[in-house]
Amino acid sequence: MTTLPITRSCPYAPPEEHRRLREEAPISRVTLPSGREAWALTRLEDVRTMLTDPRFSSDRQNPGFPLLVDGQRRVTNFRASLISMDPPEHGPARRAVVGEFTVKRMNALRPRIQEIVDEHLDALLAGPKPADLVRALSLPVPSLVICELLGVPYADHDFFQERSGKLLRRTTPPQERAAAVDELRDYLDKLIAQKEQQPGDDLLSRQLEKTQDREELVALGFLLLIAGHETTANMISLGTVTLLEHPEALAAIVEDPAKTPSAVEELLRYYTIAEFAVSRVALEDVELGGVLIRKGEGVITLGNMANRDPEVFDNAYDFDVERGARHHVAFGFGAHQCLGQNLARLELQIVFDTLFRRIPTLQLAVPADQLPYKDDANVYGLYELPVTW
Ligand code: HEM
Repeated sequence: MTTLPITRSCPYAPPEEHRRLREEAPISRVTLPSGREAWALTRLEDVRTMLTDPRFSSDRQNPGFPLLVDGQRRVTNFRASLISMDPPEHGPARRAVVGEFTVKRMNALRPRIQEIVDEHLDALLAGPKPADLVRALSLPVPSLVICELLGVPYADHDFFQERSGKLLRRTTPPQERAAAVDELRDYLDKLIAQKEQQPGDDLLSRQLEKTQDREELVALGFLLLIAGHETTANMISLGTVTLLEHPEALAAIVEDPAKTPSAVEELLRYYTIAEFAVSRVALEDVELGGVLIRKGEGVITLGNMANRDPEVFDNAYDFDVERGARHHVAFGFGAHQCLGQNLARLELQIVFDTLFRRIPTLQLAVPADQLPYKDDANVYGLYELPVTW
């Protein structure tokens, strides 16, 4: 039986074994690092059906929840964050914060995001070549944006980026992982205590007015801080490589920026960087796609395969910015669908439009297949991206 997770052999496609799994059966049995078994879904339809069925739970503390890092679950009094909640808790908790992330609210951030991107490109252009685009652009832009939104001092970025990186790496030893969780949690706890005394014009201060529950707010801040910077940073790096490697696609968006949103959707589909975030555990026996999933069994969505479902996407392994790929599940689906998707889309659109307009001679300083891809992390991406111009 196939044991997950499997490392990609080609940086731009899911592992071959995932394709074989789909060929064998759209819903297959897989083994997890703990030795437990789970189900893996590869069809878009099954993924959507499962993610809208309340008989599947997001509770990471449920012993049947399929984890890709053995020992990741630990007994803790650290309150569940949104991503781990089920009904009836999830709905009200999400409604309390969803207003912060509407398209309208995000569009109001456009000028500030543009300014942040421009400032970082000024610094890049003034500095030595080659330069690492991850450090110069991919990480700082979404980190600064989420810091300003939450009211977290950006001066602390080394602290939270390092710990967040450790949490997402599957190879981090369990004690270091636990320490990273505790340190980030304590950091947010102190920050929120300060905001109780001196509220600011920021998301965490506004949430303080809505809840008395400090633990729940710490958990929300923790989730937003990590999800808000790592994911988008990885998509900026991967998107830059992919557009540089597809000069026609790049020329199309440079010539007509109205095509950038469609290119961003295609990049999201093509990489599906956070597929391993989208797992569930069955709370009852459920029949799905002709398979009986028993109570307590884990289900993993291989989103990268679902986003290459031949019944939905033509030539799904091709990168095609004209495809109009909006119905992908790179942001998940159903009740837990990514809260920050409007922000992520906006950041990616502004970054790609500005980067290639301002540095038309941008090129990789290392061949694309020799770049350090995050094959050992639960969110795919790049550790470094040396570029020159
Ligand atoms: C949930 C992907 C950016 C905050 C999710 C889920 C996915 C995802 C797949 C669903 C998890 C599940 O079903 O269990 C991504 C990708 C991003 C991105 C690919 C960037 C390209 C962001 C940003 C933020 C954010 C920028 C914050 C500002 C969240 C939160 C949830 C979530 C809070 C949990 C929502 C809930 O459980 O109700 N994301 N995300 N994400 N994401 Fe994102």
